[in-house]
Amino acid sequence: DKGHFRHFMLKEIYEQAEIAALWVGKHLAKARIDSKYLQSDSLISLSLDDEVFEGIERIQILACGTSRHASLIGAYLLEQFAGIPTSVFYASEFRYAPPPLLSNTLTIAVTQSGETADTLAALQMEQKRLEARADPLCNSCQLGITNRPDSSLTRQVSHLLYISAGIEIGVAATKTFLGQLLTFYGLTLAFAERRNSCSKSELRALVTELQELPYYLRKLIKEHDELCANLAENFDDVRGVVFLGRGINYPIALEGALKLKEISYIQAEGYPAGEMKHGPIALLDPEVPVVSIAVPGRVFSKVISNCQEAKARDAKVIGITPIGPETKLFDMLLPIPEVSEWLSPLLTVIPMQLLSYHIACHRGLDVDQPRNLAKSVTVE
Ligand code: M6R
Repeated sequence: DKGHFRHFMLKEIYEQAEIAALWVGKHLAKARIDSKYLQSDSLISLSLDDEVFEGIERIQILACGTSRHASLIGAYLLEQFAGIPTSVFYASEFRYAPPPLLSNTLTIAVTQSGETADTLAALQMEQKRLEARADPLCNSCQLGITNRPDSSLTRQVSHLLYISAGIEIGVAATKTFLGQLLTFYGLTLAFAERRNSCSKSELRALVTELQELPYYLRKLIKEHDELCANLAENFDDVRGVVFLGRGINYPIALEGALKLKEISYIQAEGYPAGEMKHGPIALLDPEVPVVSIAVPGRVFSKVISNCQEAKARDAKVIGITPIGPETKLFDMLLPIPEVSEWLSPLLTVIPMQLLSYHIACHRGLDVDQPRNLAKSVTVE
């Protein structure tokens, strides 16, 4: 039931605030971010066996499409916050060119449907490789992240995290992406806590921001629904759109481009902003706008100068950025609250989803059932 929404996709975008609230309530409820915080208290509760954490020296993640983009953010968090070397693979590539087997590796398969053929096959192949070893590699275990407790993935792995986003009907993944991201935040906090990879105050700062996320999302989704509906007509005559992001927001640029391609059928590419001068800058002109994520933090000034380079090529630049002195650089603005870089992808994805949604609606396209796509890709 779509309720009062025009499409399932829009309904599912709106549901994200509630999904975040449920997640915070379930996993961060015990976190006491005040002077009462005790050394022994855990900030995050996840129902996962110790086996998943103990002795793990590296992580490899297998996924496709939007699940892979969530995994790239997960890898950023796991490496930069929890200090664990993490690689993300296209499941379809891993199947035919896996890296050499190493001990103490956690393999994570991420699939919202739990039915994606490439992801299941890549995981199965990895399980067979491990079984075939005469000396079983210690601490090599597998974890599934899915939205579907009734799925094939659930039967294939011994450790699972459910993202509890509720069934997603729209072919374009939105709320399950947010659910996957939250799961990675939880996993990162759990690893970081066990390994003391960062200070208690850093951990607490992230947890405090996560607790505020439902409030930010409620406000942002409503505001950007209107803003993006107004912006959509600016994309009538574009030949393509370039999405730029850096660091933890680079995968959001990839996700923005995927969303636009999927439901609007507009050619779109996502790049790490620093890569632009190595080729993609040749695409830019007044008919190829740039959507740029510029979040204060370690690469903010770099992204701003990348946007200036785009403007110098007469491209219109749309900024997903907090309001500040740099705002005047942008031709159009999708403002976001100023939060830490760590939290930012959970907010910057919202304008990406709503922009592609409104552009597709403006073009009169079937948003929930885009051509040539299925909700679960159960063939290779
Ligand atoms: O069910 P999965 O998460 O394994 O699906 C993977 C992709 O097929 C999926 O994310 C696809 O890219 C979506 N249509 C994206 O919106």
